[in-house]
Amino acid sequence: MAGAGMSQLSPRWAAFLCLFAVLCSLFMPGVAVKENDFKKCDQSGFCKRNRAYADNAVALGSEWKAPYKIPSELASFKDGQFHATILKTIDEQGNTVQLPITVSFLKSGTARVTVDEKKRQDKDIEIRHNSGARKERYNEAEKWTIVGGLDVDTDAKISHEGETGIKIQYGPNLAFEADITYEPYSIEFKRDGVSQIRFNDRGLINMEHWRPKIEKPEPEKKEGEEGQEEKKEEIIDVPPSEDEGTWWEETFGGNTDSKPRGPESVALDITFLGYEHVYGIPEHAGPLSLKETRGGEGNYAEPYRLYNADVFEYILDSPMTLYGAIPFMQAQRKDSTVGVFWLNAAETWIDITKAKESKNPLALGIGAKTNTQTHWISESGLMDVFVFLGPTPRDITKSYAELTGTTALPQEFSIGYHQCRWNYVSDDDVKEVDRKMDRYHIPYDVIWLDIEYTDDKKYFTWDNDMFKDPISMGKHLDQHGRKLVTIIDPHIKNAGGYHVSDELKSKGLAVKNKDGNDFDGWCWPGSSHWIDAFNPAAIKWWSTLFNYDKFKGTMENTFIWNDMNEPSVFNGPEVTMPKDNLHHGGWEHRDVHNVNGMTFHNATYEAMLSRKKGELKRPFVLTRSFFAGSQRLGAMWTGDNQASWEHLGASVPMILAQGISGFPFSGADVGGFFGNPELELQSRWYQAGAFYPFFRGHAHIDARRREPFLLAEPYRSIITSALRLRYSLLPAWYTAFYHANQDGSPIIRPLYWTHPSEEGGFDIDDQFFVGSTGLLVKPVVEKDKRTVDIYIPDDEVYYDYFNYKKHATTKGKYLTVDAPLESIPVLIRGGHIIPRRDTPRRSSQLMKFDDYTLVVAIGKNGQAEGELYVDDGDSFDYENGQYIHRKFKLEGSTLSSTDAEGRDIKSVKEGKWLKLMHGVSVDRIIVIGAPSSWANKKEVEVESEGKKTSVPLEYHNAEGGRAAYATIRRVAARIGADWTVSFA
Ligand code: NOJ
Repeated sequence: MAGAGMSQLSPRWAAFLCLFAVLCSLFMPGVAVKENDFKKCDQSGFCKRNRAYADNAVALGSEWKAPYKIPSELASFKDGQFHATILKTIDEQGNTVQLPITVSFLKSGTARVTVDEKKRQDKDIEIRHNSGARKERYNEAEKWTIVGGLDVDTDAKISHEGETGIKIQYGPNLAFEADITYEPYSIEFKRDGVSQIRFNDRGLINMEHWRPKIEKPEPEKKEGEEGQEEKKEEIIDVPPSEDEGTWWEETFGGNTDSKPRGPESVALDITFLGYEHVYGIPEHAGPLSLKETRGGEGNYAEPYRLYNADVFEYILDSPMTLYGAIPFMQAQRKDSTVGVFWLNAAETWIDITKAKESKNPLALGIGAKTNTQTHWISESGLMDVFVFLGPTPRDITKSYAELTGTTALPQEFSIGYHQCRWNYVSDDDVKEVDRKMDRYHIPYDVIWLDIEYTDDKKYFTWDNDMFKDPISMGKHLDQHGRKLVTIIDPHIKNAGGYHVSDELKSKGLAVKNKDGNDFDGWCWPGSSHWIDAFNPAAIKWWSTLFNYDKFKGTMENTFIWNDMNEPSVFNGPEVTMPKDNLHHGGWEHRDVHNVNGMTFHNATYEAMLSRKKGELKRPFVLTRSFFAGSQRLGAMWTGDNQASWEHLGASVPMILAQGISGFPFSGADVGGFFGNPELELQSRWYQAGAFYPFFRGHAHIDARRREPFLLAEPYRSIITSALRLRYSLLPAWYTAFYHANQDGSPIIRPLYWTHPSEEGGFDIDDQFFVGSTGLLVKPVVEKDKRTVDIYIPDDEVYYDYFNYKKHATTKGKYLTVDAPLESIPVLIRGGHIIPRRDTPRRSSQLMKFDDYTLVVAIGKNGQAEGELYVDDGDSFDYENGQYIHRKFKLEGSTLSSTDAEGRDIKSVKEGKWLKLMHGVSVDRIIVIGAPSSWANKKEVEVESEGKKTSVPLEYHNAEGGRAAYATIRRVAARIGADWTVSFA
C-alpha cells in the first residue's frame, strides 16, 4: 500500500485508503499489515545516511578518520566528572561545531557519557514553519526514565593524563578504567586492565549538527528539457554523507514529515571486545541472542529497529520494530557480562556485526576472539550512554535497575490467571463466564473488558444496553475475590458533549499538530484527539477521571488496561503520530516517540493511586507500549500474536528478553490473539503460559470462544491442571516478583543469566529458570512433540518436578524428558526449597490464609535452601515492615526457617494482616532425595516457639528411577516464626 502509488493520491484519499487497509487487517486476519507498512532502514533518511556513512568509513579502512576531536586544553576532570568539548569538523575549511561532552563516573560503577550540541544563536537555524518546536536537543528522556543511581563517585581519579588523552580509574576498588583518546575521539572501557567496550572503535560517530536550510534555486528548465533533466538526476552518484534528500522533508506511505530542524541524528559505534553474544533491546520477535544485521547467511539484512508501533500480526524472526523499546544491551562471554544503555527516546536503529580478531596473523583465525560491533543510530536528541562493566549479569541488572527502577511489587491477584477476550459483551456474559469457571473448578483471578464495553468507544463510559449494572457485576466478581480490568486507550473520541473530549479540549491538554492545533487522527472511535501525558496538567486531569464518582460503574476491584499507546493512529505514518506533532514543552513527537507510551501508562498509574481518598492500593495497569522504566508502572504483553505454533515458540525468547531488560512482568496472549488455536496448541499454550510472569488468555473479536471450560476432554483437564499448577506455585512466583522489585532481577531467567560461565547455554532461549526457585522449565512449543531435550547447565542433580524421577544428567549435555500432552517439562534443581500452597481454590485471594507446603530438593552436597516472601498482596503496608520473609535451609539433618533479613520479628508492630498470618503454618514438607538413613524413621521432631512436637514421617524408597522421598504432614510450624525440623 505504501510507496510510489500513494504519493500520487490526494492526502485525503491516501489517508482513507491507509485507514481502510489498517481496519481490514484488524478484522480480517488473513489480510495482514506487515513488513512493508513499516520503514526499512533505507526508507528512513537518517538511518540510510548513517549506514552509508558507516559503509564509507569501512570502505576507506585505515584511511578513514572520524572528524571528531577533543582539544586537550578544553578538557578537565574534577569530582568524578570529565568535561570537555568535542569539535566536529564540518567542512574543508576546517570549520567546527562544538559538542560538549561529560563523562560521569557514578557510585554504582556505571559510567555515563553525554554529548550535547552547543546551542547556537545563529538566526539561520531558526526553526521553519514557526512551528514552535524547541531548538534544543531533547534532554528530558532522563526525566521519564532515570529514578536514581546518579550520584557521582568522587573517588574516581586520573591515572594518566597527557596531550593525547586521559585515563580515569573508577568503580569498585578502582578496578574499572575509561581511556579517553582525544583525536579522533574514542573511549575504551576496561575492567581489571582488560578492554571490554570501545566507543567509536570504527569511527562511525556522527552527530548531524544543526544547520541552516539553504534553499537551492530550482534550475531553470528550458521547454522540452524536463524529461532529460530528471534522467540526469537519477544517475548522479551522491556521496553518502551528502544525501540531503531527506534532510528537510521526508515522505512515507503518503505522509510527509516536515522537519523544521533539519537533520540532527546521533550515531555511535560501540564494540564489545571479545564478546560473541549480545542480548536485549526489546521489543523484537526474534532469538534472545541477537543476530547480525548486515546480511549473510542466517543473518538479518536490516538493523534492529526501536520505534514503538502497532504492528498487527507481526512477523517472527525479524528485527522489525514492535510496540515497545528498551535501548539496553548486554554482552556475554564466559564469566563476563558488560552492557550499555542508550538513553534516547527517538526512533533508533541498531546494526550488529561480529568480527573475528586475531592478534597473530599466522593463527588463521584459530583461537581468535570475536568482537561484537554495534552501531546505534537515533533520529534526534542527545547522545547519552551508560556503560556497565559487570562482571556478572546480576551486577548489570542491578546497576540498570538503580537507574531506571525496578518492577512495581504487583498485587498478588495480578500474577494469577487473567481471562480476556475482545469482547465479553455484557455484564451477564461476564457473570456467566465467571460461573462456568467455577462450575468446572477452573481457577482464575481477573476477567477483562475490551473496547466494546464503552458507549461508542468513549472511554470512561459504558454501553448501557449491554452493561446495565456494572457495579452488580463488580460485586458478583468480588464474592470470590475476583477483579475486573477495563480498557482505557489514549485516543479520545472527538465528539461534542462527551465530557472527556470537552475537558481535554477546553483545558488544552491534547497533543498538538505542527501548526499548534489539537492533533486529529483516526483510531477506534473515528476522529480522535490524544491526551498529551507529557504535560503535568494532563496527568493531574487524567487522575480525576478515574475517581469512582466520575468513572461510574467502577469500584475497588476494577483495574486498567492501556492499549494503543505507541500511540496507534490508523491514518498516521506507520500507524502512529506524525513526527512533527508537538508535545508539552515544545518538543516534537520525533524526540519523544518511544517514551510516549510510558507517559500514558504513568498517567494511569498515578490516577489509580488516587481514585478515592484514603484508599491506597497497589495499581495494576497493563500496557502495550513501553520504554526503559515502564517496569515501575505495571505489566506488559507482547501484543497481537497469532494462534500458531510458531508464535507460541516465539513468545518464550520475547519474554526472556523483557526479563533481562528490566521489565520482567510480561506475557503473551495465551492461545494466540488472531485465529483459532487447535486444541493441542491451546493446551500447550496454557502450559507455557503457566510460566509467563503475566498469564492472560486473550482472543480477537473474530476468534471463536475458547474459555477453558468450553473445551472437550482431555483438553479441559489439561488446561485446568496447568492453571492449578500456577496457583499452587504462587508463593514461589510472588517471591520471584519480590526479588524483581528489590534488585530488578528477571522473573524467568535464561541460562546465560543464571550460569554465566556455561558457554553452551549462551544461545539457549527456549528454556529457563523461575526466579531462584531452581525450577527449570522447557515448554513444549511444537505440534505432536512428546519429548523435549533440556540443556543441563551444571553438575547439580535434577529431579522431575511431578514424579521426583532423579535424572542422570551431565553438565553441558541435553537431557531428554518425556512430555506427553498432559505434562509440562519441569525439573527441580537439587539444592532448592520451593514454597507452595496445595489446596485448589477459585482465586488467589481465597488462598491468602492457606497453609504452605515446602518442597525440598536435596542437592549433591546434601543441602538445600529456599525462600518465601509474602505480604498482604494489595496494600503498601509492606513498606512498613508488614511482610514475612523466610529463609529455609536444610543442613545436615536439620531443616530450619529463619527471618531472611535477620530481623527480630518481634520488633515489628503487627498490623491486621500479620496478625491473621498467625493462623498460617507450614503444613506439609516433601523432601526429594531423602537419604536412606531416614528410611526407618517414623517421626521427626519439630521445634517452634519453645515447643517440641513429634510428627509422623513417611519414607518412600527410591524406585524405578524415582528418587527416594520423605513426606511429613501436619507440621503446624507457624509460617512467620522461627522453627526447626530435626530428621536426625
Ligand atoms: C489491540 C490490542 O493489541 C488487542 O489486544 C485488543 O484486543 C485490541 N486492540 C482491541 O482493543
